[in-house]
Amino acid sequence: MMKLSLRAGVLVASVALVAGCATSAMSPKDAISARQELMKQQGAAMRSIQDKLKAGQAQAVAADAKTLAETAKRIPAMFPAGSLDPLTSRAKPEIWQKWPEFEGYAKSLESKAAMLGATAQGGNAQATQAAVAEMGKTTCGACHQAFRGPEIKK
Ligand code: HEC
Repeated sequence: MMKLSLRAGVLVASVALVAGCATSAMSPKDAISARQELMKQQGAAMRSIQDKLKAGQAQAVAADAKTLAETAKRIPAMFPAGSLDPLTSRAKPEIWQKWPEFEGYAKSLESKAAMLGATAQGGNAQATQAAVAEMGKTTCGACHQAFRGPEIKK
């Protein structure tokens, strides 16, 4: 009995170890390109939202809101400590100095995108527009303002 539970414990520990490695194994270079790709998806979702609002399709915005709620969850893991490179990345060192604040913006995007989805489903164009503007300003905009450096000149 003792032996069995010990073995189970070792198994759980090694599974946790493997899962931990999967994220920490991401090299700074891979993390930078993965998160830039993720951010591009977010930019595309925001454009899609604007297009749908212009076309008077508030309800269709719910699908993009779902995309944003999902991408938001993946933001923190794509900023492993040390993934800084001023030549390829606009991430500021402040991200790791003020990690709770940075992570808070990602969490806030997740919850505001979920709220936007619910509002959009109600079909009220004006309320949807307002929710998009509020989300953009307080999450995308605020996080970029605090944690994204100037454009990289090439
Ligand atoms: C938690 C902070 C945070 C949030 C929230 C956030 N971003 Fe970003 N975003 C960043 C950082 C940091 C970078 C720079 C990443 C790099 O270059 O390594 C970035 C880069 C970008 C880029 C440029 C990608 C590229 O390199 O081509 C776009 C586009 C973008 N974000 C769009 C958005 C949109 C749209 C939202 C909201 C729906 C959003 N972001 C929310 C932190 C955030």
